[in-house]
Amino acid sequence: MTSRYHDQHEVSRCLRVDHAGEVGARRIYEGQLAVLGAHPVAEEIRHMRDQEQEHLDTFSALLNDYEVRPSLLSPFWNGAGFMLGAVTAAMGPKAAMACTIAVEEVIGTHYDRQAKSLKNEDDLVETLERFRDEELEHRDIAKDHDGEDAIGYPIMRRVIQAGCRVAIKLAERV
Ligand SMILES: [Fe+2]
Ligand SMILES: [Fe+2]
Repeated sequence: MTSRYHDQHEVSRCLRVDHAGEVGARRIYEGQLAVLGAHPVAEEIRHMRDQEQEHLDTFSALLNDYEVRPSLLSPFWNGAGFMLGAVTAAMGPKAAMACTIAVEEVIGTHYDRQAKSLKNEDDLVETLERFRDEELEHRDIAKDHDGEDAIGYPIMRRVIQAGCRVAIKLAERV
């Protein structure tokens, strides 16, 4: 009984933060598209946005299945994601890609950790592993599009990743 409760608690925490993260992720790409919609990189960004939409839909359904409430800060993740995407895209396509590298590295690691820590949740683990691979694919797309050559890349990466880690801690709890 105790362990079952522990599992449920663990799963709830995972689903809440993952749903919140995907709300933000989809909006980052929408923010980028608002600025770079006509740029040649837009096709790649749309591909990533569509995958984030699928991730988000999956977690929305899982929140329902497991009867977990979404993060109370969801409206904030929505706005913050869009801002982050639009602001970095306004700095240019390389900066937008730098943002993608930074965010997807953190999310990829995050899903990897969750997949390894969840017990008795084979379906969920499988989903997390698939999403992890897709996030890392997004990181690689952004590397291929010279995100690492963006002006101020190291500092940008550090700041964005620190922000992501704070967001993850918050969304697990609130
Ligand atoms: Fe995602
Ligand atoms: Fe992603």
